[in-house]
Amino acid sequence: MTLCSWLFVPGDSETKIAKAGSAGADVLILDLEDSVALARKPAAREIVAAALRGPREAKFYVRINPLATEMALPDLAAVMPAGPDGIVLPKPDAGADVARLGFYLDAFEAAHGMAAGATKIMPIATETAASIFTLDTYAHERLAALTWGAEDLPAAVGAAGGRHADGGLTDLCRLARTLTIAAAARANVLAIETVFPDFKDLAGLREYAAAGRREGFAGMLAIHPAQVPVINEVMTPSAEEIAYAERVVEIFAKNPGAGVAALDGKMLDMPHLKLARRLLKL
Ligand code: COA
Ligand code: MG
Repeated sequence: MTLCSWLFVPGDSETKIAKAGSAGADVLILDLEDSVALARKPAAREIVAAALRGPREAKFYVRINPLATEMALPDLAAVMPAGPDGIVLPKPDAGADVARLGFYLDAFEAAHGMAAGATKIMPIATETAASIFTLDTYAHERLAALTWGAEDLPAAVGAAGGRHADGGLTDLCRLARTLTIAAAARANVLAIETVFPDFKDLAGLREYAAAGRREGFAGMLAIHPAQVPVINEVMTPSAEEIAYAERVVEIFAKNPGAGVAALDGKMLDMPHLKLARRLLKL
């Protein structure tokens, strides 16, 4: 089960939802939050519930509105009977919000005859000022991954934006991004890179996604179908990487008890073995 590419689709757009199925994404995020205007929330709930009852070409997650709003429970009440694969939780302050959502899901799953714990959760873990100080609290049995956002956090602290004129991230966003990588590892889940907003710049996307993968991200959010193939390609380990990882594992298997080995003229020790095993597990 790979979860490399996560494509956002506005929940009130039947045409985009229909189109998204063929994009090749591992996960579609049917959005009820910021891409849906307030007046369209009720319609979006119905459209998303109907989509969940149709064929699923990918995993279907639903981004609900923040728990601090009165929209979150009506969102869950509308979509949970149709059994989404997961819920994307925006603007949590801490892991306690994941636990609270988990209790709601316990109740909805029981009410609708679903397996307990079937519904996964992916928080967007850096969208409030408080969240930056609680990133070590997200471990939870429902957690599928952790991602971060570069739009809401700057707004929360009164910054003009999350990026400079040249597209580079502000220090606040770099901090949030870096902590998300560590927080995901600490919670033993995948770290998912945030969106690359300029959806026409596929070369820029490729470069950004590749840097993210080198830094520890295992997947990435998309906002446009054209971004999905690039993300899949960059985030999926290549045949060469897999072959190399297999050779690393093999060399240590052949020399049980050895702490170091040499391969192609390079020193290998335990971190290399760990990395190789992790890649093969993915
Ligand atoms: N999912 C499914 N289909 C999408 C899509 C998406 N996220 N984004 C674009 N498309 C479709 C368009 O509807 C269009 O379909 P058509 O050829 O049948 O008309 C086609 O792909 C090409 O789209 P394009 O003209 O390049 O873009 P656009 O101007 O129509 O849309 C956005 C641009 C940004 C509005 C759109 O990509 C979008 O809605 N993205 C998701 C936004 C979102 O969910 N944000 C919340 C998280 S940050
Ligand atoms: Mg947001």
